Amino acid sequence: MKFFLDTANLDELRKGAAWGIVDGVTTNPSLIAKEGKPLEEHIREICGIIDGDISAEVVATTSPEMIQEGRKLVKIHRNVVVKCPLTRDGIMATKALSSEGIRVNVTLCFSANQALIAAKAGAYIISPFVGRIDDISWTGMDLIRDIVQIYRNYGYKTQILAASLRGPTHVSQAALAGSHIATMPFKVLDMLFNHPLTDKGLEQFLKDWNKAFQPAPVGG
Ligand code: G3P
Repeated sequence: MKFFLDTANLDELRKGAAWGIVDGVTTNPSLIAKEGKPLEEHIREICGIIDGDISAEVVATTSPEMIQEGRKLVKIHRNVVVKCPLTRDGIMATKALSSEGIRVNVTLCFSANQALIAAKAGAYIISPFVGRIDDISWTGMDLIRDIVQIYRNYGYKTQILAASLRGPTHVSQAALAGSHIATMPFKVLDMLFNHPLTDKGLEQFLKDWNKAFQPAPVGG
């Protein structure tokens, strides 16, 4: 499963890149606005940190303007993937852009039928928002499982990107469900490393090693 970082914060991206396990980045207008830098310059910087698919979202709402914006975004860097919302105009733009060979990540997906529409429009990636479904007391991961099954039934090549992940359990559940990609905030990626028994075990290894091989303290 590919790990994407869901952030536009350059420090977090640099830290994640250093671990060597980050395969791409997703951004959205809220994440970009949080950093406050002009989109084109900021996406170019992100492309210089992570060598993988970098999703940059259009802010236009009509398909002609989305298409125009998408064509501009992909000129920033070869790794840029255009993000369009799952609206009628977003799907029309996805159809047009994908027919030009431009890769589109269709975002704000909350149902299996929406995911079917995105695949039929030629989406490169579909982004179902797991956490936001959980937030309204449904089970977001059920949607991932449904989409995996439907895409398998018909041989759709659209990659499933589990988004809106809130913790380590979401990541492992997305992997078990067969999601191609999991995108997560930096703090979630950082949490994936943690286990108390790993820390305890390493402490004991080093204690035993030092006891056997470290020179006794002088005069001790
Ligand atoms: O990529 C979508 C993600 O940024 C949304 O996450 O936690 O705002 O639902 P969240």
